[in-house]
Amino acid sequence: MEKVREAVKKIREKGYLVSPKTIDMLKEEENPLEIVKNIEEKEESSSKAIIEPEDIEEQIKKNKEETDEKPKTKIKGKLKQIPSKEHEKEIEIINKDISKESRSKGEVEDFVENFKSRYNKIYKILRSRGENSAVKIENAKKKNEKIKVIGLITEMKSTKNGHVFMKVEDPTGLMKALVPKNKKSIIEKTDELVNDEVIALEGHMGNNNLFIINNIHCPDLPVRELKTTEEDIAIATTSDIHIGSNYFLKENFENFLKWLKGEKGNKRQRELAGKIKYLTIAGDIVDGVGIYPEQEKELELTDIYLQYKQFKEYMEEIPDHIEIIIGPGNHDAVNKADPQPKIPPELIENIEELPNVTMIGSPALLKIHGLRLLVYHGTSFDDIIPQIKSASYENVKGVLRKTLKSRHLHPIYGEKPITPEREDHLVIEKAPDIYHSGHVHKNGYDKYRGTICVNSGTWQEKTPFQRRIGHKPTPGRLPIIETKKGKINVLRFDQGLNEEGVKEKK
Ligand SMILES: [Fe+2]
Ligand SMILES: [Fe+2]
Repeated sequence: MEKVREAVKKIREKGYLVSPKTIDMLKEEENPLEIVKNIEEKEESSSKAIIEPEDIEEQIKKNKEETDEKPKTKIKGKLKQIPSKEHEKEIEIINKDISKESRSKGEVEDFVENFKSRYNKIYKILRSRGENSAVKIENAKKKNEKIKVIGLITEMKSTKNGHVFMKVEDPTGLMKALVPKNKKSIIEKTDELVNDEVIALEGHMGNNNLFIINNIHCPDLPVRELKTTEEDIAIATTSDIHIGSNYFLKENFENFLKWLKGEKGNKRQRELAGKIKYLTIAGDIVDGVGIYPEQEKELELTDIYLQYKQFKEYMEEIPDHIEIIIGPGNHDAVNKADPQPKIPPELIENIEELPNVTMIGSPALLKIHGLRLLVYHGTSFDDIIPQIKSASYENVKGVLRKTLKSRHLHPIYGEKPITPEREDHLVIEKAPDIYHSGHVHKNGYDKYRGTICVNSGTWQEKTPFQRRIGHKPTPGRLPIIETKKGKINVLRFDQGLNEEGVKEKK
């Protein structure tokens, strides 16, 4: 019924009315949308106003003639139809290329400017989200009534009496603030806050210039409908391949490439392969060299060039109609501080010479068929996960949600380094439609306020280090986003791509 409704809508969009008999006829058809999609738009001069059953019959005939004329696509393997080939690639990189932009020397003034930029960008977001009555901290000190301020948290701790104390700062000054212990729901909100994030505080100035907090607002995403594409295509998302490591799951990964080429999988799995138009790789392509002490003992390939050579050979196997988007991670041979520049193409034997490769930094914001796609490796997640209650290495979707709520990919200036660019490129200025990250080697999926979130796992089996700390990675799983339906599927290459391989994530 849904399909019929869509088909009728399509006809109306072309400028025609639809007779009840036509609707009955469409109900009998298996794929009514396919039939009507080629109906030509009504010309102004045309006196024809209604689509009748005979028009549909005529259209079916025309469609058939057209398909008969088209040569059938043949490729190696058993994949006969590749719908994604029919669509031109539509890809645009929206954010600036950090590798060319970087002016930071890592000096104090750079950090001051970087934090100013963060504050100003998130201040704007908060105001656009309704916090437009906020006053400056220097003025807050003089007021006695209920007010709002927008500030960056510089310190936060629980007192021994159960209150939460914090210091917040804006460009005009610093303020001490307190959530009284009896405000349980607000205390709970502080369990989700981290240092260096920008929030709005509601409350009043109490004694000794201590601001008493009544409520806390995060910049958060606006509530939106999930955005989908006209084209029935799919994006395969992956990361953390770790080529060169003794623990790289070569067989699983090579099976993934075979599936992409249509040489593996059951009917449904092959159909999905035919829809893949993009493959995003969110960093940690190789295991790298000298990333942690005594890493060489765990390397099969100890030369970084050989690791990238192997990667290029794999990428060459991917059919040209699939655009490969490649970003860096902390194991790749580029600056490890966020934002990371793109991996120099010459490091991967001039990989950009392949016709279907786009190199990006981390983070990167792209537009694909009208969808905003945010790709970020996820290095900051190690700092955020221990700080908030809603996230853990078992539950990575909590950390993706946190970064969206605070509208910042790397809020804590902590262990994981940040390059203090004069402009803070880590603020999530525009709400993404798809947010793809990696790094924690654990698959996670979420749909949050109109954003599809995917953490794409790994192709590296559990390492001795992970065993020691009790981390349970989920290798060999491939999340795929069908953009027309806004649906996430997962293929399990770790389970030999068996019948239960395609799992839909709600
Ligand atoms: Fe990794
Ligand atoms: Fe990583």
